[in-house]
Amino acid sequence: MKPRIHLIATGGTIAGASPSATDTTDYRAGTLTIEALIASVPPLADLAELTTEQLYKLDSKDMTPRHWLGLARAIEAAVAQEHIDGVVITHGTDTLEESAFFADLVLTPDKPVVFTCAMRPATALSPDGPMNLYNAVSVACDPSAAGLGVLVVTNDRIHAAREVTKAHTQAVDAFISPDTGPLGWARPPLITHKPVRPIGHPVELQGISTLPRVDILFVTAGSTPDLLQACIAAGARGIVLALPGHASVPESWKGPIAQLRNKGYPVIETSRTGAGPLTMSTEMSRTPTKARIELMLELSISDRTPPLGKAS
Ligand code: SIN
Repeated sequence: MKPRIHLIATGGTIAGASPSATDTTDYRAGTLTIEALIASVPPLADLAELTTEQLYKLDSKDMTPRHWLGLARAIEAAVAQEHIDGVVITHGTDTLEESAFFADLVLTPDKPVVFTCAMRPATALSPDGPMNLYNAVSVACDPSAAGLGVLVVTNDRIHAAREVTKAHTQAVDAFISPDTGPLGWARPPLITHKPVRPIGHPVELQGISTLPRVDILFVTAGSTPDLLQACIAAGARGIVLALPGHASVPESWKGPIAQLRNKGYPVIETSRTGAGPLTMSTEMSRTPTKARIELMLELSISDRTPPLGKAS
């Protein structure tokens, strides 16, 4: 019997369409249905029995934390179905790393969960989506892809959601896992190493209804710390700094950061370089984007924790 794979479609360039076959930038993302995508990849029928769910039809720049929650819940529900062997999510490339990392933090699936995408729309002369979709379903069918956390399959590679990032505006090899490299090869699936960061389950999805606002400030030579107050005044509950080098805080920012922390606002220091450990640490740094998601989740837990002495 063929493995049963559930496909959750959210939109993106993989479902994008343009009147011109040579247009790879000025098209409409999230136009085609998941059924149309499957129909364009006939060999999928040899791999798996597919079920489908058209959850969103979004350009992923328009995803919000509310969409992350809806998507994570849809994945959780699919994984919980006994007859499903794996889940594939089609997603836009622009914010894929955010949705996939969020899902990775709130789910511990015992079946393969694989995000995929495309850099070129489905109507392009040489679209990358059909092969990416085929590869993603192949990986989702492979039991060795289970227990590795949420995966991202693109351009023939398997990446860990907790490491992967989009690093090019247009190339089909836009995704990299800085420092660690990919986990393996997608066609046929071959896992060459396990994720470096531990697979955790720090936050239970159940009970999160909203995620608090956390802003990222990109710190450049000469940028001024009054930006911190602007974020708080606009409603941020915490701030992530994308700092130069190994997260070097400019002297003029140190006092204002300490003041905010004393008032209970977390300020997280990350590097804007995108790779490497921070000062005197053996741990690789998080990208600002991923650190923001972690902080949103941490704050959502503290929102649900009664203050000390007031527990019933
Ligand atoms: C999107 O992120 O939805 C559009 C861009 C893409 O998928 O490459």
